[in-house]
Amino acid sequence: MHHPDQTRPDLSALIARLDLKAKVRLLTGSTMYGLHAEADIGLAEVHLSDGPTGVRGLTFTSGPPVALLPNATLLASAWSDEVLHETGRLLAEEARAQDVHVVLGPTINLHRSLLGGRVFEAFSEDPYLSGRLATAYVRGLQERGVGACLKHVVANESETDRHSVDSVVDDATLREVYLLPFEMAVADAHPWSVMAAYNRVNGVSATEHDGLLNGVVKGEWGYDGLVVSDWFATRSTAASANGGLDLVMPGPVGPWGDALVAAVSAGEVEERVVDDHLHRVLLLAERVGALGAPRQVTAGLPRPDGDLRREQLTRLAAQGMTLVRNERATLPLERGTTVALIGRHAVDTVCMGGGSAQVTPPHQVSVADGLTALLGSAVRVVDGVEVRTRAVAARAGSVRDPETGDGGVHVVLLGADGAVIEERHERAATSMIGVDDDLPAPVAEARFRAVVPHGGPLQLGALGVGSWRFTVAGAEVGRIELRLSTDDAGEAILRPPSGTVLAEVPDGALVEAVVDLRAASGLGRPGRMAGAGLFGLVAGPAPRDPAVVLAEAAAAARDADVAVVVVGLTEEQETESVDKSTLALPGDQDTMVRTVAAAARRTIVVVNAATPVLMPWVDEVDAVLVAGLPGQEAGHAVAAVLLGDREPAGRLVTTWPVADGAAPAWSVTPVDGRLVYAEGAFLGHRGHAAGRAPAPAFWFGHGLGYGTWDYTDARLVAGAERPGAAVTVTNTGLRRSREVVQVYLRPADPGQPVRLAGWQAVTLAPGESRDVEVPTDLRMWRRWDVATATWALLPAAGELLLARGLGDVRAALPLSDD
Ligand code: BGC
Repeated sequence: MHHPDQTRPDLSALIARLDLKAKVRLLTGSTMYGLHAEADIGLAEVHLSDGPTGVRGLTFTSGPPVALLPNATLLASAWSDEVLHETGRLLAEEARAQDVHVVLGPTINLHRSLLGGRVFEAFSEDPYLSGRLATAYVRGLQERGVGACLKHVVANESETDRHSVDSVVDDATLREVYLLPFEMAVADAHPWSVMAAYNRVNGVSATEHDGLLNGVVKGEWGYDGLVVSDWFATRSTAASANGGLDLVMPGPVGPWGDALVAAVSAGEVEERVVDDHLHRVLLLAERVGALGAPRQVTAGLPRPDGDLRREQLTRLAAQGMTLVRNERATLPLERGTTVALIGRHAVDTVCMGGGSAQVTPPHQVSVADGLTALLGSAVRVVDGVEVRTRAVAARAGSVRDPETGDGGVHVVLLGADGAVIEERHERAATSMIGVDDDLPAPVAEARFRAVVPHGGPLQLGALGVGSWRFTVAGAEVGRIELRLSTDDAGEAILRPPSGTVLAEVPDGALVEAVVDLRAASGLGRPGRMAGAGLFGLVAGPAPRDPAVVLAEAAAAARDADVAVVVVGLTEEQETESVDKSTLALPGDQDTMVRTVAAAARRTIVVVNAATPVLMPWVDEVDAVLVAGLPGQEAGHAVAAVLLGDREPAGRLVTTWPVADGAAPAWSVTPVDGRLVYAEGAFLGHRGHAAGRAPAPAFWFGHGLGYGTWDYTDARLVAGAERPGAAVTVTNTGLRRSREVVQVYLRPADPGQPVRLAGWQAVTLAPGESRDVEVPTDLRMWRRWDVATATWALLPAAGELLLARGLGDVRAALPLSDD
């Protein structure tokens, strides 16, 4: 018999103590990332924070330094429940250190079209891999008392017109594919919150989707947690309240408040609906320790730059790195090898994607620093071709606050009368104005002042909407006008326009950039959001002639035993709020690889990107390592992998196509407001395998590691209702290695795609063998029967495949239905 825990507050009794207005107040946030407290019922403030790969804190920028983890695809590439479990626990510690109660992650939308700007932030194209990894992540977080938030329900796979797009997805695909990771994580890990997406789903806003939120999530799945809106996603009052949304974010202004009180009075929303929403808010508060007795503050948590974090973050990053090509056993490198390390990403390694997943890390180790730390003078570092078109937030250190001498800028905000409203030091060289702060008066002008320690012919850049004027040592050097390109208010925050001027800057000169915000119209939000956005002053070297850069790269490559070229994407491509238009590497990076490959004895390419890029040169190089966005220890992890101190044990989480468009789903541009998921359940490898797209460059599940493997004695093994597979694997290589034994179900019905149904990893010494049994998850044998709107189990007919990605099938085991 179940004995209710006497120490738990009776939530219904607490709710009964509040009048309608007091209840409704608690259903909209109090700030950007906080919820209202209510002393009368012992409710403390609950704090929510992004994001999936680091706990940024309660402000969008300028938070305290926090650990920057490897990005989601890199973590997922380990194909390891343990890695994601450790990630969750680590994030929980980061959260507790900042008094954060809920981490807004994991992101478990799928990699549908690879053009999607946030693909870097989500685990995989595969629903089973995503669901299983999300489960481990949520468990890790919540075991330590910090809530997870699965996001974004649902069909939120791209960014174009993200506030209005209608994702049109048939019911079977929705159930079998896009809802599946959410369903798995809800059933297996009981996340304390989920987030309703910006988009519409089959015509209805996700934040007011009764069928999804009340019907599927809270109804069929029996979900007792909280449904929170994505930020600024709620567009209605009664429809969203009745549709199953529990909490509107951010606050304090929003579409509920007085309007919801009025809707209840008018009989459009029943008060018991409000009570249910509040019940879920209070249950969340209770779960995270913000209701009743205050939670113990945990002292002695690891520092983001301490030894523990460095070890963890290096190991977690390295484990997911994926070796997709390794001719003539070029990797790992032998010590004593001389290396020409080439590329902008070698010196300015991209450690994270853009948007709400960004954090302020204590440091970001470049590949140049990481490899030099291990090899010393055997490494010659050569900067590469330009990779960005926009001015970007400079790393702390490239400019200094003239008042404090610390990395960053000094910001002065002035009112229309010229009086100073506020002065700030900003560590990140950018400042979020009018969003996280509570300014006493409208800002008419913002002045960014910085000292540039290393002068020269520099590019000075500004971020943020308005009319900008630059001075160097008091003399004007240029003006620019920056405007929004869309009417999405989020653009001003997530992807502010930017521009640059070229100027000769003496060493140590004072640079000032002044932005007139009075002209910054179109930041169209009422109240405190007016004129809001991200602003900043950046400085960097003026671009060099590409021909000179390529000649230098080739010369360095010729002189060394091996050339390591680091190429990749930047936050211009891998970011929230904007989609890509191509998978090609930006700038002249392809030419750079080819130039180096032609000159070098051996060429290793390190791809510093989370998502697939095109590699037209792949056959011209010896090895390709996919390094993802490796987090703050990036360079240490890459170096450890290149030298074989750690195995790049990753397997791809997404299929890498050979060309733009050569994938089952491509366009992310809505037509008449609709984005039709026409490929149905055949996304990614499922579609490639069905011949719906050309054979890919590299399959989902591919990854060489530093081992070689024999598969023998493959056989079916009985499972509860459907079989699994077993096989003896032998490490035939020369190094200890981790193998991921993948089992795919190929149903007999060709209308049903092949799909991953289970995996099991094993780490073996050279020569060692192990019998590995891989159960299949019964949820992968289901088919959504549209006629009856129920699940049906597929017959045990077709095959189970044991494969190292579908391009390397080691055994096909026929299934018989009798
Ligand atoms: C993103 C969410 C994020 C939220 C809060 C939104 O723009 O879509 O993923 O959690 O902002 O920052």
